[in-house]
Amino acid sequence: MNETVASRQSSISVDDYRGYAGLSPLAGLLTMKEATTKGLTVTESVERIKRIHWALKRLHMALIARIPAMPVYELKMAFSLHAFYCSEHVGEFSKRVREMRQPPYGLEISPDLMLDLFFDEVLCAPSTEALLLGLYGKALPAVIRALENLMADTNKMFDHPTYRICRFTLLELQDAQQYGTEAIECLVKDTDRAELQGWLATLDRILAAAGDLDGSKEKSGEKVERHFSATPYKYDPVPKRDERFIDPYNMGVNAEALLFDPETAALPKTIMLYFKRMREIDVPEMMSSIIFEETGKQWGYYQDMTRQLWDEARHAMMGEVGFVSLGIDWTKIPFNFTWSLGLNTILTPQERHGVLFTIEQGLMPRKGGKENEWEIGVATADPLTARIQDYDWADEVLHAKIGKDWFVPQIGTQVEAMAFGDKVWNKVLVDWKKWKEDGLTEHRNWWPEVYREACKHWGIEPDEKLLAYNKTYENARADLKEVAAG
Ligand SMILES: [Fe+2]
Ligand SMILES: [Fe+2]
Ligand SMILES: [Fe+2]
Repeated sequence: MNETVASRQSSISVDDYRGYAGLSPLAGLLTMKEATTKGLTVTESVERIKRIHWALKRLHMALIARIPAMPVYELKMAFSLHAFYCSEHVGEFSKRVREMRQPPYGLEISPDLMLDLFFDEVLCAPSTEALLLGLYGKALPAVIRALENLMADTNKMFDHPTYRICRFTLLELQDAQQYGTEAIECLVKDTDRAELQGWLATLDRILAAAGDLDGSKEKSGEKVERHFSATPYKYDPVPKRDERFIDPYNMGVNAEALLFDPETAALPKTIMLYFKRMREIDVPEMMSSIIFEETGKQWGYYQDMTRQLWDEARHAMMGEVGFVSLGIDWTKIPFNFTWSLGLNTILTPQERHGVLFTIEQGLMPRKGGKENEWEIGVATADPLTARIQDYDWADEVLHAKIGKDWFVPQIGTQVEAMAFGDKVWNKVLVDWKKWKEDGLTEHRNWWPEVYREACKHWGIEPDEKLLAYNKTYENARADLKEVAAG
């Protein structure tokens, strides 16, 4: 017996070590050779995690900050998704830091001022083209590199929780990177790149001075001067849209009055549902300003608010899907931006949140709310419309809860929070007549034309009475609660 043990022990080698009946040892995570030789200290691992955590935090805010004033719709949507990815992973990395016995955690403090310089430069990118090159040409590749390095250098078993978070983060950031690379191909011309060459080289030099984003390389020691961030960043809250979005002050078609009219058949209401969904572009535009300007909150707040911002972007895209399914060219429909414009430029961040809160609580009762919209969606007998409303409803229920979790405690009780939202909303006037007088819009009635097009798709004759529908938002103060955010 003793002999057998001795002979087995003598044949044990890290090079070809196997488990019982040839099973992979160490839960299949790594070979014995790797397990015995690879790894970082806890301190080294935490240092890298803190840098990745900080980079994701800065990247998140850069993406959020540019949503309103960066005009391209598809990029607004992609920034919303990529900001959501970042915010989720910031949460995971900060949790991991707290598990690793290295207080003070320092999660609110920059681990390296060169990293801040780098992200200040990206945030200050003076055009959409520069922003794309900064974000997807430099910043995301640097974070991806840091994740890959950490996964390669740390011991997958000893530091498995870190390895796992890196792996999931990498998966989503690579998707984001791929989208960004395609966006650069679509939007950035050679002349833009040539013009920005000096700045792009500066970004590389900043990273070299930092010893790369993760600090794993020798620091260059160079003192790099600020380029675009020499003028401090100023948040631009004024929403802008690309040229496909026409007539942004148009309040000519009251969607809710038709949608909730019991006399009207369900099918034509499809158009108003899709319209309301796509109009939700204004919610990420508005929530950007709350998230950016409400500083100093705990990360859970930003995480929940960013989740909601991404949901609202998804709702807008669901509307887009709906219109395309009907073969309708949505660029003929005015999706006004008056709500995000008014809130972003007139109210404080807390007041904006109050208005959002009041609207979303108002969507919870059945009548005229989200459940009602879903019932109409089901009644259209189009499974796509029903599905859109099904998910819109589910998300909006979550948003009502997010409001209760984070907004109500800022004000007091639920009733006080509702009253606050209602009161501050009155500060944002919908000046139907003045916009018309000022030549900002004619409040054109776009309904008959879109309804006719949809009828063609459905293979039915338009209803004369419905074609004549011409209710506007002119005297519909009560209905304005439904105008946005839902
Ligand atoms: Fe919502
Ligand atoms: Fe929605
Ligand atoms: Fe919404």
